[in-house]
Amino acid sequence: MSSAFPRDGEFLALEEIHAAAVRRLPQDALTYLESGAGAERTLRANREAFGRWVIRPRPMSGVSDPKTSTSLLGIPLSVPVLTAPFGGDALFAADGHLAVARANAASGIASIVPEVGSFSYEEVAAAAPAAARIGQLHPHESFDVSAARIKAAGYDALCVTVDCPIVGFRARTRMGRLHLDPAIWHGNVLDDGSPNVAATYEAHIAPTWTWDELAAATARHGMPWIAKGILTAEAAEAALDAGAAAILVSNHGGRQVDPSAASLDVLPEIAAAVSGQVPVLLDSGVRTGADVFVALALGASAVVIGRLAAYGLAAAGEYGVRRTVELLTRELHVLMTLSGVPDIAAFGSGFVARRS
Ligand SMILES: Cc1cc2nc3c(=O)[nH]c(=O)nc-3n(C[C@H](O)[C@H](O)[C@H](O)COP(=O)(O)O)c2cc1C
Repeated sequence: MSSAFPRDGEFLALEEIHAAAVRRLPQDALTYLESGAGAERTLRANREAFGRWVIRPRPMSGVSDPKTSTSLLGIPLSVPVLTAPFGGDALFAADGHLAVARANAASGIASIVPEVGSFSYEEVAAAAPAAARIGQLHPHESFDVSAARIKAAGYDALCVTVDCPIVGFRARTRMGRLHLDPAIWHGNVLDDGSPNVAATYEAHIAPTWTWDELAAATARHGMPWIAKGILTAEAAEAALDAGAAAILVSNHGGRQVDPSAASLDVLPEIAAAVSGQVPVLLDSGVRTGADVFVALALGASAVVIGRLAAYGLAAAGEYGVRRTVELLTRELHVLMTLSGVPDIAAFGSGFVARRS
């Protein structure tokens, strides 16, 4: 990868992107983006968990240009990072996930495109036709409609969010009395106004589905699917039994169950339960290249970035997202070099330890 020094005017560190996002976003948008559920213990725990790990570098390993590229479900990735499905994306930049998709096409990573985003699955696909993309959807009565659209629009896989049968109780968001245009979640509402998704989002998603219904529904569409929102070994096993092609360890960025475990804290348990049968991904709290390093060392095949990508979008649209991934990659690359990790495949728990 290029080690050219950044040009003037470019963001030089991820903190600058976060600061620019905070400066630029109206208060309602910032509250919607940053808040979590309940007393936000899960939200805080996600960050605290990364702070409990340190890297155990292997000096003099002769590693000069570690390879960050890998692949996931047959999708080539320049770095083991995907952008998360975050709804309401036009709040952060007018072209929301269209910009994310274009940025990711340039970065060589994949986007997970939300069902309750500001743009349709088809619009995001058209924005970056050659780019890798995964369509996120919820297990609900319109699953078949959304899955068929995702497939027809040439997506590589599905991502089924299993931790959001109803939206978490988000006290900070509620107390903020946000005035947000519901259209920011309506990208996939059908033209005839039928309530495919989103239009009646809160009322529409319903906690009635079980793994059996999900197994049957995913089998009807014949696409590999990621189970998003797994926090226990038991849930991972249930997802595998239902046919998941990958497990995404996630607490929805602290926006659903509060308190629940930090994703990172349960990653080793889940990776052990999955035992290499399918890739295990992680999201919730990833903010730096060091976080990516620790997650990979503890068994993740890739990480998914939610707020970090949204900060990039809010700070500078397509460029902001691309630069976020570039800086994240740079940080990871530097740490792999310093620590003697030649390749993503060489990661293992020996490269990290609990902070004493
Ligand atoms: C503003 C916002 C909107 C989100 N919308 C969705 C969504 O529609 N579907 C979904 O599965 N996850 C959604 N998420 C959760 C993300 O996909 C992801 O799990 C989470 O952001 C990861 O944590 P992080 O923000 O700490 O990286 C949303 C997250 C945020 C911050």
